[in-house]
Amino acid sequence: PKKVTTLSLASKKRRGHKITMVTAYDYPSAVHVDRAGIDVVLVGDSCAMVELGFDTTQPITLDQMIHHCQAVKRGAPSRPLLVGDMPFGSYEFEDRDVALKNAYRMVKEGGMDAVKFEGGSTSRAKIVKHVVEGGVAVLGHIGLTPQAISVLGGFRAQGRTAIRARALLDEAIRLQDAGAFAIVLECIPSNVAAAITEVLEIPTIGIGAGGGTSGQVLVFHDLLGMLSHPHHEEFVPKFCKQYARVGMEINDGLAQFKQEVEDGTFPGQAYAPYVMTEAEEKMFN
Ligand code: KIV
Ligand code: NA
Repeated sequence: PKKVTTLSLASKKRRGHKITMVTAYDYPSAVHVDRAGIDVVLVGDSCAMVELGFDTTQPITLDQMIHHCQAVKRGAPSRPLLVGDMPFGSYEFEDRDVALKNAYRMVKEGGMDAVKFEGGSTSRAKIVKHVVEGGVAVLGHIGLTPQAISVLGGFRAQGRTAIRARALLDEAIRLQDAGAFAIVLECIPSNVAAAITEVLEIPTIGIGAGGGTSGQVLVFHDLLGMLSHPHHEEFVPKFCKQYARVGMEINDGLAQFKQEVEDGTFPGQAYAPYVMTEAEEKMFN
C-alpha cells in the first residue's frame, strides 16, 4: 500500500474523500490502526490521560512522547502518516528554535512524519512557520486545545459566539498561511467547522465538530471502549461513538483466567507441552 503523505491528504479534500485519523500510543494499537487502513496515526498527548492515567494532557514530557512515538513507529512503520503531538511546554517559547529543535527530536528520534501544535495566535503561527521552514510538516489544532486547560477553565466547547467563531476562522487562516498541512478542529459548532473547512484550502480534521470537516479523528481508547466494564461506569465524551467495547472482552478473559487457575482447569494437559523422554525421567526420579 502507498504511503499516506500531506499531499495525498490534500488531494483527498479536493476530491471530496474523507480523511480518517485515530490515535495510537504503543505497538499493538499502532498495528491495529495500520491494519485497519486508517490514513493518519496520531501519537496524541491524550496519552497522558488514556495511557498514563493523568487528569490532563499537561504532565507528559517530550522524552515520554518520543518513547511512545518509537513504539508506534515500530507498529506502523510504512503506510500511514505518523503525526506526533508536541507536548505542553515544548514549543510555545518566543525562541522559535526551541520548537524547531524539539520537532526535530520527534522526527529523528521518534520516527514521526509530522508534528502537531495547539493554538492559532499570531505568535503561535510564527512558530509554525519557522518549524515548517525548518523542514518539519505541521498539523494545526484549534478550538478546544486541551493543553490550555488552565486558561480555558475546563474541557468545554469553543467558538459558540459569532465573535469567537470569527476568531477561530482567523486562527485557521493564520495557520494555513504559516504552512500547516491540515488543522484539527476540536469541540466547536458544526456550522463553524463547516465554514472554516470551506474557506480553507488545506483539509480540516474534526473531533466534536460535526460532519462538515474534511475528516474525523477519535481517541483509540474512546472509540473502542478500552475501559468498558460490566460493573464500572466508563466515561465517553458526548461526541464519541463507541464502535466496540473491548474492555468487556478484556475483563471476560481475565476473569476466566483467574477462575481456571484457581479451580485447577488451567493449564491442564493441553497447555503443559514440555515432556521428558522416559529414559531421562527414570534418571531424574
Ligand atoms: O491528543 C489527542 O488525542 C488529540 C486528538 C484528540 C486530536 O490531540
Ligand atoms: Na493532543
